[in-house]
Amino acid sequence: MTLRLVVADPHAAGELAADEIEAYVTQEEFSGRDAVLGFATGSTPLPVYAALARRELSLSYVRGFALDEYVGLPQGHPQSYASVILCEAVEPLGLDPARVLVPNGAAHDPAAAGAEFERAIEDAGGIDVQLLGIGSNGHLAFNEPGSSFDSLTRVVELTAETRLDNSRYFDSLDDVPTHAITQGLGTIMRARSLVLLAFGERKAAALAAALEGPVSEDMPASIVQRHPRVLVLADEAAASLLRRETVERGRRSSLRPS
Ligand code: F6R
Repeated sequence: MTLRLVVADPHAAGELAADEIEAYVTQEEFSGRDAVLGFATGSTPLPVYAALARRELSLSYVRGFALDEYVGLPQGHPQSYASVILCEAVEPLGLDPARVLVPNGAAHDPAAAGAEFERAIEDAGGIDVQLLGIGSNGHLAFNEPGSSFDSLTRVVELTAETRLDNSRYFDSLDDVPTHAITQGLGTIMRARSLVLLAFGERKAAALAAALEGPVSEDMPASIVQRHPRVLVLADEAAASLLRRETVERGRRSSLRPS
């Protein structure tokens, strides 16, 4: 793993993630093909979208894929990830909504919708930079503990912990969907660059286990240790349980161009 770890406040982390994305998508090689971004939902990536929006980049050639979507919310539901990504990323960044795909959680056959989404990523040539948050239980996208490292986009059941974490966006816990379509851990690992963000004390234990613990399907985010290009951006609170050597090693590698 080329782990670059930077401890910064969320605003600064947003700028650094935007630097990574900008450097990637403005490379010469993209003059001939589309750059493909992987979007995350939740509160974590918001500073990144805000930083990118401030740069007013011309991103009309960029394609995008979301990490996941709830199953069963009607199309246009304000908490559907399609609505959230449209409002937090697509519109502020000036992306073409038709070029940003979110798994269809309202599909009659969600399993088929998952497989179709996986094919669409492949057809686009794969994801260049994938943004990731981490769940307090170590999930990546909606790959809950126990998910196979080889998993592809599919329907999953959400854990009680994840539903409780996400109930802050709904009127009540009962309104939080029980299932989602999520990119698999195998899908995420195919992205050429990963940017994992973690903010707040609630993420500290999961981040330490993911970066320093054994690589295990019990801790889905630990799979990032096997990726060749990972940038981890954490604030002080989320980094508070990391060993000093991890922070130092990450800081040194973040000074080297990757
Ligand atoms: C969102 C996603 C989830 C979140 C994670 C953290 O697309 O895939 O894995 O990244 O649950 O959520 P927040 O950022 O709200 O703390």
